[in-house]
Amino acid sequence: MSTFLEVKNLHVSFPTEDGAVLASNDVSYSVALGETLAIVGESGSGKSVANLAVMGLHNPQRTKISGSAILHLPEGPIDVLSAPNETVRRLRGKAMSMIFQDPMSALHPFYTIGDQIAEAWALYNEGSKADGIKRAVEMLDLVGIPDASKRVHEYPHQFSGGMRQRVMIAMALVNNPSLLIADEPTTALDVTVQSQILRLLADLQKEFNMAVILITHDLGVVAEVADRVSVMYSGRVVESAPIDEIFYNTTHPYTRGLLNSIPRVDNNGIGTRLKAIPGQPPSLISVPKGCAFEARCEFASHVSGGLCHAVNPDLVEKAPSHFGRCHLTGQQVIEIANQNNGVK
Ligand SMILES: Nc1ncnc2c1ncn2[C@@H]1O[C@H](COP(=O)(O)OP(=O)(O)OP(=O)(O)O)[C@@H](O)[C@H]1O
Ligand code: SF4
Ligand SMILES: [Mg+2]
Repeated sequence: MSTFLEVKNLHVSFPTEDGAVLASNDVSYSVALGETLAIVGESGSGKSVANLAVMGLHNPQRTKISGSAILHLPEGPIDVLSAPNETVRRLRGKAMSMIFQDPMSALHPFYTIGDQIAEAWALYNEGSKADGIKRAVEMLDLVGIPDASKRVHEYPHQFSGGMRQRVMIAMALVNNPSLLIADEPTTALDVTVQSQILRLLADLQKEFNMAVILITHDLGVVAEVADRVSVMYSGRVVESAPIDEIFYNTTHPYTRGLLNSIPRVDNNGIGTRLKAIPGQPPSLISVPKGCAFEARCEFASHVSGGLCHAVNPDLVEKAPSHFGRCHLTGQQVIEIANQNNGVK
């Protein structure tokens, strides 16, 4: 698979009266055509901020951005963080596209669905209004909206939450982007509709060989569709690995906490178990010099010399293609977790 987006050492900060909010702190990730990268982390960990930087959607007057985000386009690589605004604007919706967290705020309430999809199409295509509407009907069909030729003339409020999310996907894909960034595309939906939308995204990705970044706070959601996962905490990537490694060979205490917080049916089949990670992440204004997870980490007492408090661990390769940011080795984390769970 060929890498399409390569984000390296991305820093994004917002100057405020209280100091700079460092929302993205030396973040690196990449995704290839045909691959799905899930970016997972609690609310406020910097998932959206990093990807909005890639899309060139931060206000340059109120944001400080450094690092690089290379798109490997057929005509050659381009760094969207240093390219002129006009160049990035022309890539947006064409080479790279994004589905936003809240479909209702991304759709205009006074225009029909068809008009809005046709307008997105017309940005990059020559043709009449009727051609645009025809393309909108094709897209609605593609994303599984029944009776598309009739519904194309309806307004956003006439669609259910799940159907609106399908419309957002149709609009994002109307110009065949190579990269689709889906920011929490299923959060507001009920569980059955969530899995339908995830399946739809997975099917479309295969059909168009897209690179997909799926942003979510829910590791359960990624299990079916992701190839690789990057886990973010407090503006940093703390673990990054192929999906099976994340689930079966978890080397970071924070990721273990996230996995424990997935509701599971108990052994006897009655009820569910949900263990939230106690505590809060530190402020992004005064970033601790040690590990940002220390105050909440059950494993820190196993590291000697106060190292977790004093030194922020680097992101290092713990196993082939498996990176983690912790002073403990992957094996140590697994052994301590087994001891804590009473596994011999
Ligand atoms: N324009 C801004 N000015 C100041 N701080 C901001 C701004 N945008 C985001 N932040 C802060 O940056 C941090 C990361 O925000 P971000 O939206 O990336 O979180 P997230 O991981 O996407 O969370 P969620 O799961 O809730 O969407 C948060 O603490 C947020 O308050
Ligand atoms: S470096 Fe220390 S505090 Fe941070 S995750 Fe590892 S054990 Fe926990
Ligand atoms: Mg977000």
